[in-house]
Amino acid sequence: MTEENKIRVDLSEDRDLLLWREDFYLPIFEHALTEIGDLHGVRILEIGCGTGGTAVLLAKRGASVLGIDLLSFRLDDARKRTAEHGVAESVQFALMDAMQLAFDDNTFDLVISKSALIFTDHIRAARECYRVLKPEGQAIFIENMHNHPPLWLYRKLFVTYASNTHYFSMVDIEKIGENFDFMQHREFHLLAIGALIWQKLCPVSTLYQFTLKHLKSLDDCLLKWFPPLRRFCWITAMICDKR
Ligand SMILES: C[S@@+](CC[C@H](N)C(=O)[O-])C[C@H]1O[C@@H](n2cnc3c(N)ncnc32)[C@H](O)[C@@H]1O
Repeated sequence: MTEENKIRVDLSEDRDLLLWREDFYLPIFEHALTEIGDLHGVRILEIGCGTGGTAVLLAKRGASVLGIDLLSFRLDDARKRTAEHGVAESVQFALMDAMQLAFDDNTFDLVISKSALIFTDHIRAARECYRVLKPEGQAIFIENMHNHPPLWLYRKLFVTYASNTHYFSMVDIEKIGENFDFMQHREFHLLAIGALIWQKLCPVSTLYQFTLKHLKSLDDCLLKWFPPLRRFCWITAMICDKR
């Protein structure tokens, strides 16, 4: 799709479906779904769907979604969420491992994951995603990165499961790309995360919003003019093509 043909996706009405740190995930989903375009009639596989927020968001935009996860209680919550939002007919769920997908080759138009590949062997999962994608299909992987300095320290000190979690470095991102025919990736949130610290210290909504807005703008400038800083971001959005 050419830049002129892209219609900017606005997800502000569905921001609650991002379920966690919505202020930070909203611009990432808007970027990724703007790149993908119209979702009507698109058959989507969601890897590690958790409690189904993303699946509902995609179904509300006209897609049919199959969400997989390793935890059955999460899928139960996901089914409830689809019913509450009136999209149960467009969404199915299955207990399945992302590294061993029980689908034929060339089944889906789009594969998506949010904060799920970090719990897998990236390459095994990426190969499976490539296999089940139809030719001309695309995969979106929205995943946490390894080298954001304060987050790195926070995970070391406080996140008990972090040592078993494979956060993404730039090398990992490039390796994912090697398993597809084309990949673009964009990194998000370098200093903007500082707004969360400010929010904890002084929980006044207007101050938080003000700080967040200005730190996001500063991030946009820094990442545009000093691309090597992208490796220190919090989140990456990889968009991969099967030709
Ligand atoms: C951090 S949660 C994210 C859930 C959801 N994507 C979201 O953003 O709300 C990660 C999810 O990935 C699932 N998961 C981890 N390893 C998996 C695997 N190998 N195959 C399928 N799902 C997996 C977990 O059970 C969990 O529900």
